[in-house]
Amino acid sequence: MKINAKAFSEIAHTVFAPIYPVIADQIVAATGITRGTCLDVGCGVGSLGAALARRTELFVYFFDQSEEMLDLTEHTIDENDLRGRAGTLAGEVGSIALPDGSVDLIVSRGSIFFWDDLPQAFREIYRVLAPGGQTYIGGGFGSKELKDSIRRQMAERDQGGDQGGNQFGDKMRRNLGPEMRARCEQALADAGIADSTIIHSEDIGLWIVIRKPN
Ligand SMILES: C[S@@+](CC[C@H](N)C(=O)[O-])C[C@H]1O[C@@H](n2cnc3c(N)ncnc32)[C@H](O)[C@@H]1O
Repeated sequence: MKINAKAFSEIAHTVFAPIYPVIADQIVAATGITRGTCLDVGCGVGSLGAALARRTELFVYFFDQSEEMLDLTEHTIDENDLRGRAGTLAGEVGSIALPDGSVDLIVSRGSIFFWDDLPQAFREIYRVLAPGGQTYIGGGFGSKELKDSIRRQMAERDQGGDQGGNQFGDKMRRNLGPEMRARCEQALADAGIADSTIIHSEDIGLWIVIRKPN
């Protein structure tokens, strides 16, 4: 499913804006990685990667299959004064144009739900992950308070739309629920990745931390 880049950009800069700094802090706390290179897979308009770059010394590659999203990410790079510390890269998660073992931290928020072949995505992510590198891949809204506030705001928008109702709340429950967790666990097993942890809570969301041995 193709996401409308302009509509997503508007949401990322308004309703979703408070979640990215919170999630970036959670990533730094969980992985301890603050230097080297970071890949933000399915970066959208670059909000999470930019929040991470601002609180670390990481060089961030913003990666997305949508050229339109990457054009909007160029504005995010400028707005956050990240020229020289960031680059954009177009592509599909199943085939990332980066060398083996070249990325220290791979993050991804809200994109995994769109990936057609999860085992191939994990194999490719593991290939580009550097020895000692880690991932933080999944979905979430930072905290229960932020999630509830976003659910309310999105429900108001849904009511005003053609279909009415609470499509966003339904999607949120589906994406962050036990079935998605089980799909991720199966895909990690199919990809042959043994050293991973799943963080799954009402507060933080659903995140996969893979650690590649040194
Ligand atoms: C809901 S947006 C999330 C954007 C951003 N990570 C955020 O949290 O604001 C999902 C993004 O994933 C990208 N995407 C979806 N499937 C992808 C794939 N197979 N390979 C690369 N990017 C993908 C979409 O183009 C879109 O920009």
